[in-house]
Amino acid sequence: MEISRRDVSFELDPTKVPRDWANNDPYESTFMNALSTLFPEGEKFFVESVKQHKHYVTDPDLERDVAAFIGQEAMHGREHRAFNDLLVAHGYREAPRIEANLKVFLKRVRRVLSPKSQLAVTCALEHFTAMLAEGLLRDAKVRAEMHEDVAPLWLWHALEESEHKSVAFDVYRAAGGGYARRAWMMLVTTFFFFLVQGIVHARLMATRKILWKPWRWLRGMTRMWIYPGFMIKLVPAYLSYFRPSFHPSDRDTKNLIASWQVTLFGSAGTAAAALRD
Ligand SMILES: [Fe+2]
Ligand SMILES: [Fe+2]
Repeated sequence: MEISRRDVSFELDPTKVPRDWANNDPYESTFMNALSTLFPEGEKFFVESVKQHKHYVTDPDLERDVAAFIGQEAMHGREHRAFNDLLVAHGYREAPRIEANLKVFLKRVRRVLSPKSQLAVTCALEHFTAMLAEGLLRDAKVRAEMHEDVAPLWLWHALEESEHKSVAFDVYRAAGGGYARRAWMMLVTTFFFFLVQGIVHARLMATRKILWKPWRWLRGMTRMWIYPGFMIKLVPAYLSYFRPSFHPSDRDTKNLIASWQVTLFGSAGTAAAALRD
């Protein structure tokens, strides 16, 4: 399946988007906002780690996919940075500092890990984004809870994460990356992902003054992990990564992708207005 390159600009208006845009809930909104603050620098890391191994790619199809992957991730970084500006307008003045802190952290990661292990980290995080994306694209209830102005940004990102979910993995294999490193790096990445996301989420919750309101936590975590349990439903897909024969395309999302391409970017697509010529 060809990976599309789309030049988009969502131009969200902070006066129209409510601060609690996800399910009218500050816990869920700050969780998503935390993810958004991690995307620009995170996606830069993905792109660099793939670029470092481009010379291993000899298959012309994969070469083309790598170029599309780089284009898509760069665009995600740009649009999430714009979304993070909206967060500043919503009173989260720490958003640029969080991005700067992550930049320093990732600089250290680059110093500590070999290029191939950095690519394995990218594969792990691309599996995370693919799982979250598929969950979002399949879960009508979660989508309905997002504010209508914000939903197209997240759905566009989810669609493209699904479209390019195999690219980093295929480059890792082309570069001779093995199973042990991939599995070990997934465990390390899982730990650091939840640590970093947890710290950032707590920081945003503190700004929102809900950090010391346990019932907010309990309610939010129960909704995420127990019922309806958006996150718990992703566990089998997460575990499948540890199969030695795992490949991202094992989960068939072709039809899902095709239908979302039309829903978002068809002639009456809900995100078509964001496309630039
Ligand atoms: Fe992305
Ligand atoms: Fe990605």
